[in-house]
Amino acid sequence: MALPHHVRLVEVGPRDGLQNEQQPISVADKVRLINDLTDAGVCHIEAGSFVSPKWVPQMAGSDEVFAQIKHGAGVTYAALTPNLRGFEGALAAGVKEIAVFAAASESFSQKNINCSIKESLARFEPVMQAAEQNGIRVRGYVSCVLGCPYDGEIAPEQVAWVSKALFDMGCYEISLGDTIGQGTAGATRHLLETVGKEIPRDKLAGHFHDTYGQGLSNIYASLLEGIGVFDSSVAGLGGCPYAKGATGNIASEDVLYLLNGLGIETGIDLNKLAAAGQQICNVLGKTNGSRVARALMAAAG
Ligand code: HMG
Ligand code: MG
Repeated sequence: MALPHHVRLVEVGPRDGLQNEQQPISVADKVRLINDLTDAGVCHIEAGSFVSPKWVPQMAGSDEVFAQIKHGAGVTYAALTPNLRGFEGALAAGVKEIAVFAAASESFSQKNINCSIKESLARFEPVMQAAEQNGIRVRGYVSCVLGCPYDGEIAPEQVAWVSKALFDMGCYEISLGDTIGQGTAGATRHLLETVGKEIPRDKLAGHFHDTYGQGLSNIYASLLEGIGVFDSSVAGLGGCPYAKGATGNIASEDVLYLLNGLGIETGIDLNKLAAAGQQICNVLGKTNGSRVARALMAAAG
């Protein structure tokens, strides 16, 4: 399949990245990160989540984040919502796009949102209805699409079933999450062939964590399968609180470097993106997880 001319990068660092940090992060630092990403030309940013602060303390204060960020023209600022309560919080904060999240693995569903896959889908029904009534777009996530930390291998057919359920419910796009970053290019292609029979490929996105260093090759494999939307995290921030040892998403700078090399447009300025990533790494006192950002900084002296 021919490579796309344009790819949409969904920046999940402020949510998937920061949700996993141990130390408290101020609202001001989150706002600065999101504004820096906007200035770099990112057009889709997952800016927070309206989940239980007992489960994910780092995402408390997402309402203040939404109130304080600069809203760039044409930029989508999305929030994760697990239930109607989360939806109402997001709506009150002026959020225009939300994401619901299910898992392809029963054990992960229990650990992450304390219910079975079927219960989670039933819980999303009223959220979808409320979203429709309020003109809010809904993106759907499926976790553990290429393996689960508790249940091991996951059948692509199971991923296809959960993805289709979310799509039929009204999610405009389904993001396939390799939560533990174990997938390989071959497994990714096989997965997309199976899910692609149920859902058009232009309604699918790839969400690769980079635990085993396979993120970029999985993205290239996905591009060859006709996927044109990828989630990534600036400076490779993050991990998953319910997937022990999982590292952050593939770094946005590294994905952008790959896409630039392929002549694929994103609208994002690599140097500004790398500066945004380094700024939040300085705040967190951690090493930048992007190989490209590190190389650019070394080259600049
Ligand atoms: P629960 O304990 O089963 O639910 O949690 P509950 O209804 O009994 O509520 C427990 C407490 O939370 C109550 O407070 C509720 O009021 C409160 P208490 O009475 O104990 O004081 N509560 C809420 N508070 C704020 N906002 C809400 C909300 N809902 C209930 N929306 C629940 C169920 C879903 C709430 C919980 O399990 C939860 O919040 N889970 C979130 C987990 C999460 O955010 N995980 C990370 C994101 S998923 C991910 O990273 C994967 C992804 O990146 C893709 C990939 O990589 O694969 C998307
Ligand atoms: Mg994730």
